Amino acid sequence: LEGKRELLLKLRQESELGGGEARIKKQHEQGKYTARERIERLVDPGSFLEFDRFIISKKAVMGKGESFLGDGVVTGIATINGQKIALYSQDFTCFGGSLGSAHAKKICKIMDFALENRIPIIGMNDSGGARIQEGVEGLAGYGEIFYRNVKCSGVIPQISLILGPCAGGAVYSPALTDFIFMVDKTSYMFVTGPDVIKTVTHEEVTKDQLGGAGTHAEKSGVAQFKVGSEDECFERVRELLSYIPPANFTKATPKYTSDTIYRDNVKIKETVPANPKKPYDMKEIIFDVVDDAQFLEVHKDYAKNIIVGFASVGGIKIGIVANQPSVLAGVLDIDSSEKAARFVRFCDAFDIPILTLVDVPGFLPGTNQEYGGIIKHGSKLLYAYSEATVPLISIITRKSYGGAYLVMASKHIRTDVNLAYPTAEIAVMGAEGAVNIIHRGEMEGLTGKAFDDKKAQLIADYEEQFANPYRAAELGFMDAIILPEETRKRVYEYLVALKNKKQEKPKRKHGNIQL
Ligand code: COA
Repeated sequence: LEGKRELLLKLRQESELGGGEARIKKQHEQGKYTARERIERLVDPGSFLEFDRFIISKKAVMGKGESFLGDGVVTGIATINGQKIALYSQDFTCFGGSLGSAHAKKICKIMDFALENRIPIIGMNDSGGARIQEGVEGLAGYGEIFYRNVKCSGVIPQISLILGPCAGGAVYSPALTDFIFMVDKTSYMFVTGPDVIKTVTHEEVTKDQLGGAGTHAEKSGVAQFKVGSEDECFERVRELLSYIPPANFTKATPKYTSDTIYRDNVKIKETVPANPKKPYDMKEIIFDVVDDAQFLEVHKDYAKNIIVGFASVGGIKIGIVANQPSVLAGVLDIDSSEKAARFVRFCDAFDIPILTLVDVPGFLPGTNQEYGGIIKHGSKLLYAYSEATVPLISIITRKSYGGAYLVMASKHIRTDVNLAYPTAEIAVMGAEGAVNIIHRGEMEGLTGKAFDDKKAQLIADYEEQFANPYRAAELGFMDAIILPEETRKRVYEYLVALKNKKQEKPKRKHGNIQL
């Protein structure tokens, strides 16, 4: 027995070292942790249980190839904030973290475990892609992972951390997951790299410009989170997991807060300017309403004209969608519609109630938007809200015009509770635009002061008639008009009232959302 114990301890030690000390040193020099160090920093101390530690590649089993214990990926289960999760962490020190058949099998096994046991799956990606020596077997492995990503979608949360290279086919597993984190300067994602691009299109671009964290967090929207370091990445992942349930159809646990529920939002009164054209920062309202001013913003640097993220009110975990009047006046455009639609669908899949804060002048006009397909992309948000069966609460903070009024969680697409501040304007369009169209005849022929006076009068009349929330309230489209300082307590009370909401939908295979 003594010798057998020693063998196990020796094998364990060997597997700890991955591709060996020299490669570990290289990894550290690049500012990256090893696969095991990452797990240690991400999960609750001492909670990691490893699977398949001694797996080696099929070629190595047959004695025809080099081998590393574990085949370049560490997999297992652990807890984060006391909640069970499954994970895999690619080890760049073994074959560059490349994906061979044994490596893929390990990932698939842990994904299956996560799905069957309804716990989130976290993938830490740091890999040179398909293992070249294994040919089509490596590619087959990716296919198996992609298939599982789709099977898990909407059942368990899937989180991808990009901590090094992720190129070629490898990008499509993270792309199929719910959230992508990228570390600035040390990670990149692209379908084809700079060398291929140079040959095909003669464009010169660096790896970072092409697929670095900045590119994907700001330009393409592929990554939801850009972080400055791996340590920050782990911190953010733990924070994200504190807002989301381990699986669908699982009751959310309350989030701890010492914040008083029944406090007035005194600041909001000053935040929202009376002039509908004056910008203000919607985040000030969010921070004042939620518990402890804690808001985890998702897609912070992408399509900033809409804000999405997680928070809690009175300990009830919620998703927030909010127009941002300080960026492009908070208009809806292609990117913001898609960003919000995906977020709404995530919340709906995982039973997270949604609070929508509305201040929207309409859709962004222009050929760029029309040629880019704003019609189809805008419809995604409309679809997502209409389809959602989670509790939906919306507040119009200042204005809501036209088609955008309908899209932004209006009563007509089955929002449960529609609220507005007394200063809210709900109309087909803003006063000036409306007067130019419907009173053109009355202003014709007038010039100078006469023209200005007439137009000012018509605008004032229009504002009195339409630019208020009472027309909508008279028709039952607004459930209540609230004072800004009452926001937090009202949101909490409605969330409590909606706790057991159940909404049946007609049976169908699946809907056909615009893609
Ligand atoms: N298959 C097998 N081994 C791979 C590999 C792959 N796809 N990618 C990297 N490796 C190995 C390298 O042979 C090297 O092995 P060694 O430590 O025994 O020398 C090790 O991983 C590290 O690679 P290296 O090229 O030295 O690291 P780098 O940081 O300079 O570059 C990459 C990283 C990913 C840019 C580079 O390795 C690369 O271009 N790999 C191929 C990517 C690809 O085209 N994959 C297939 C398409 S999906």
